[in-house]
Amino acid sequence: MTDPFKFSSSFSLSKTSSSIIILFLPLILAFSVANAAAFKLSTISFDDGYTPLFADFNIHRSSDGRSANLVLNRHAGSGFISSKYYDYGFFSAKIKLPTNYTAGVVVAFYASNGDVFEKDHDELDIEFLGNIEGKPWRFQTNVYGNGSTSRGREERYHLWFDPTNDFHQYSIFWTSKKIIFYVDGVPIREVTHNEAMGGDYPSKPMSLYATIWDASSWATMGGRYSVRYEYEPFISKFTDFVLEGCAVYPLEQLLDSLDCREKKAKLQLAEYADITPEGRQAMKWFRERYIYYSYCYDTLRYPVLLPECVIIPSEQVLFKESGRLKFEALTRRRSRRPRRVPGQRNPIRESYRQADT
Ligand SMILES: *[C@@H]1O[C@H](CO)[C@@H](O)[C@H](O)[C@H]1NC(C)=O
Ligand SMILES: *[C@@H]1O[C@H](CO)[C@@H](O)[C@H](O)[C@H]1NC(C)=O
Repeated sequence: MTDPFKFSSSFSLSKTSSSIIILFLPLILAFSVANAAAFKLSTISFDDGYTPLFADFNIHRSSDGRSANLVLNRHAGSGFISSKYYDYGFFSAKIKLPTNYTAGVVVAFYASNGDVFEKDHDELDIEFLGNIEGKPWRFQTNVYGNGSTSRGREERYHLWFDPTNDFHQYSIFWTSKKIIFYVDGVPIREVTHNEAMGGDYPSKPMSLYATIWDASSWATMGGRYSVRYEYEPFISKFTDFVLEGCAVYPLEQLLDSLDCREKKAKLQLAEYADITPEGRQAMKWFRERYIYYSYCYDTLRYPVLLPECVIIPSEQVLFKESGRLKFEALTRRRSRRPRRVPGQRNPIRESYRQADT
């Protein structure tokens, strides 16, 4: 990945051009991060990896079989699931989210084994939360292990681009050592396995799910805005499917075949298995600007830090003890945001609510 901070050498230019650069700094940064980063991956067709999960009639495959649209309309949402379970893996897709009024709509891209392990399931989530017209989509990530649903590990963020304009690559990397969430190849969250996490670290084979559904009761400003079906259909587009890792049946993991060990070793060597120094810079850049809730800074909820939390001072200063942004951080970001509807409440003030996937 190209270093998003490379352009800083241009500061040796004249005063005027430096101030122009400073003016457009966030834009330039966003531009370089977004363009430099997405992984070049070998992709599979929909049928090679997935099967419908519900509301078949709302899943539309492209004629070449390499893309699929998930529709939410007044009749149903829809979803698909990987045909196999993966004993660790790398899951990725390019996704284009529905546009215009999408309050109450949730698009989820996540790994889970809740269908097999009802009481002690594991889960890794990327969930996109729709918004009223003219306001940006937000998204959250979460990690559950062995049924740790009473210990949510949510983080919530804005994006540095409009996810309804184009396809962007969203990826989840998961091994016994660490979990990394990526957006266009930019690492946005890393969870390093820590013995003290015990079963909270997801370790049983999971399938990959993609769904679109009506979450009117909570998705937008704590449920203030519902899905409005006069704007149907809501269409989320998926392409460039990637499912890497050892495909197994859920209880087969115990066998740990040679083939599986090889696939796991291959996973550890992939370009996305470790965050490069440039990737760390991009992650810092992202987190200082786009995160707006983190459980690690929510000391009201977790007076004792959960064991994997690493407190980063440059992030910590942004947050109140509720894990939400301080007023100063809010206003600084607000002044950066170009598209605001006057008189509307800022969505980042919305109160946190746990995702009920
Ligand atoms: C979005 O809304 C605008 C204005 O309300 C409309 O012109 C446009 O067709 C809508 N786009 C979609 C994809 O529905
Ligand atoms: C996971 O949960 C099950 C039952 O809830 C328990 O028996 C098991 O010891 C747990 N595993 C770990 C690794 O904590």
